[in-house]
Amino acid sequence: MALLILISVVFSVNFCSFVSAYDLDPLQDLCVAVQDSNQSAVFVNGRFCKDAKLANADDFYASGFNVSGMPTPTNLGFSVNALNVNRMPGLNTLGISMARADLEPFGLISPHIHPRATELILVLEGTIYVGFVVPDTRNPFKSRLFDKILHPGDAFVIPQSMVHIQYNLGTTNATHLSSFNSQNPGVHMISYQLFGSNPPILDDVLVKGFQLDKKVVDHLRAQFSSKS
Ligand SMILES: *[C@@H]1O[C@H](CO)[C@@H](O)[C@H](O)[C@H]1NC(C)=O
Ligand SMILES: *[C@@H]1O[C@H](CO)[C@@H](O)[C@H](O)[C@H]1NC(C)=O
Ligand SMILES: *[C@@H]1O[C@H](CO)[C@@H](O)[C@H](O)[C@H]1NC(C)=O
Repeated sequence: MALLILISVVFSVNFCSFVSAYDLDPLQDLCVAVQDSNQSAVFVNGRFCKDAKLANADDFYASGFNVSGMPTPTNLGFSVNALNVNRMPGLNTLGISMARADLEPFGLISPHIHPRATELILVLEGTIYVGFVVPDTRNPFKSRLFDKILHPGDAFVIPQSMVHIQYNLGTTNATHLSSFNSQNPGVHMISYQLFGSNPPILDDVLVKGFQLDKKVVDHLRAQFSSKS
C-alpha cells in the first residue's frame, strides 16, 4: 500500500511538472544572454545574464527575417528561420520567440512537437493545412484531430506539446509566422527521433510499437537516419 502511494505521488509530481513546463518570469529587468562560447561548458535552466550595464540595443535586435531560413537537409520542402534566444540574446528570460516558416508547393513540416511552447500560427502567403492531435482524456489509445485549411490572414493555435503538422496544399510557395511563449521552444521531429536515433531503437520495439514488418522498419530507418 505504501509503495502504491509512493508510486502515485511520484507519478503525479512528474505529471504536474510536465504540464506546468513553461518559461518562468524574469527576476530582473535585463538578462541579456552572455555570448560566450565557454558557456556551453555550464548548463543552467536558460542562459547566463551578462552585466546589465553592458547591455545595448543590438542585444534586442535581429534582422534577416525578410527571407526564408536555410532549407532543411530533407526532401520535405520546408525551411524555418527561427527568432529565438540564439538569434537575439535579449530574449533570454522573456518567455517569447518567433519563427518564419516557408513551405514549397506540397512542402510538409512533418509531425513534430514543441516541448516548451504553445505555437500561434499566422499565414502570410499561400494555403496551409494545419492540424494537431490530442489523446482522449479517458483513453490514451484514442486520439482526436483538430485541423483547418488556412489562407493569408488566418491564424491557428497549437497547444503546448501537441503533435502537429503544417502542409502546403497549394501549388505556390506558402509562408507563415509563428509566435511561441518560450525563448527556446525546442522541436522534436517524431519520425526522425524514432526511426533515426543513434544508437537505433531495438527493431522489435519499432516492429511491435508501430505494428510494422521488419522490412518497413529498415526502410523507415534508411529514410530518417543520417539526414541531420
Ligand atoms: C574560455 O576558455 C578559454 C580556454 O579554457 C579561456 O582561455 C578563455 O579565457 C575563456 N573565455 C572566457 C570569456 O571566459
Ligand atoms: C533583407 O533585409 C536585409 C537587411 O536586413 C537586406 O540587406 C536584404 O537586401 C533584404 N533582402 C531581401 C530579399 O529583401
Ligand atoms: C519558392 O521558394 C523557393 C525556395 O524554397 C524559391 O527558390 C522559389 O523562387 C520560390 N518561388 C516563388 C514563385 O517565389
